[in-house]
Amino acid sequence: MSFADCKSRLVASPRRWLVTGCAGFIGSNLLETLLKLDQSVVGLDNFATGYQRNLDEVRDQVSPEQWQRFQFIEGDIRHLEDCHKALMPDGEPVAHVLHQAALGSVPRSLEDPLTTHAANCTGHLNMLVAARDAGVTSFVYAASSSTYGDHPGLPKEEDIIGKPLSPYAVTKYVNELYADVFARAYDFKSVGLRYFNVFGPRQDPDGAYAAVIPKWTAAMLTDETLYINGDGETSRDFCFIDNAVQTNLLAALAEGDAQGQVYNVAVNARTSLNQLFDYLRTALAEQGVEYARDPIYRDFRPGDVRHSQADISKASRLLGYTPSHEVKQGISEAMPWYIEHFNTVKVSKG
Ligand SMILES: NC(=O)c1ccc[n+]([C@@H]2O[C@H](COP(=O)([O-])OP(=O)(O)OC[C@H]3O[C@@H](n4cnc5c(N)ncnc54)[C@H](O)[C@@H]3O)[C@@H](O)[C@H]2O)c1
Repeated sequence: MSFADCKSRLVASPRRWLVTGCAGFIGSNLLETLLKLDQSVVGLDNFATGYQRNLDEVRDQVSPEQWQRFQFIEGDIRHLEDCHKALMPDGEPVAHVLHQAALGSVPRSLEDPLTTHAANCTGHLNMLVAARDAGVTSFVYAASSSTYGDHPGLPKEEDIIGKPLSPYAVTKYVNELYADVFARAYDFKSVGLRYFNVFGPRQDPDGAYAAVIPKWTAAMLTDETLYINGDGETSRDFCFIDNAVQTNLLAALAEGDAQGQVYNVAVNARTSLNQLFDYLRTALAEQGVEYARDPIYRDFRPGDVRHSQADISKASRLLGYTPSHEVKQGISEAMPWYIEHFNTVKVSKG
């Protein structure tokens, strides 16, 4: 099914969805897309790393009628009763689950593995149990490219993984293992999406655990020095948010052999940190913002993989996924949002 067909089907027969982590970066973008397609959405978040301002921004992007179809539950996936409540908010189960809630960041997990484990493993298991009990139609969850660990092969194919390099990577692999066991033991099939460095509007630029694109863009906009970990030749398959949203919706409607799988979500391109620095500086210059500083190179970051690039043929073949944005396009499209928000918000919690 193409993404256009997928959206047409949803508009023709709207459903009820649960988006966990809906106040976060990816979750709030999923929420916005679903509401714009006239779907009903229940959202679950505990604001651990998400923000009310993300929900407010979604409200401002949709019509009042669409916003009325959103029901927010402040709750914690570490608590099974909160998961049950979100899956059956008024005694009727939601049809589709897009489970995004987790604590991201490799460095965070190295500093505090217990908290990451509780949200990412216990929380995920709670969600699987509650969704199985509710009898939902489909369950899509956020997996991660970190599962490829120390395997050097490129591009990454779903079946060939190495050993995890961080507690975060362990938790995301455990998500897949539990999902697989739920398919075998309870015939509860789900779809895991191994995101590769997703970026776009509403990604948090703040704090020690920020992702590189919002962090560097915010530094450039405030004319601060920015740092490159390592020699700058570390590379990633940066994935614009629209590609991640597309795969979630396609995966939610997947049938037959396309269910019970994990898929890479990226574009099958490799961008080094040095190239990324240039792309961001150029995109900013196109918007009239000059950044003249050179980056400062410092040590490699522990737990980081050196190169990453996704083979996306499985998602293309079984889900009908075609990336809508290459990295440069995504950066150009996101830049006006960064400029509007990073200068003004200067980014305090709340
Ligand atoms: N952004 C990426 O590049 C990337 C890459 C690989 C995987 N992922 C995965 O995608 C998902 C979404 O990531 P994101 O980038 O949007 O991060 P994010 O931090 O912006 O969003 C995560 C959301 O989950 C919520 N949350 C955390 N713990 C919770 C809990 N115990 N109960 C309820 N809500 C909780 C947070 O408050 C936040 O709103 C995560 O599962 C992450 O591991 C993201």
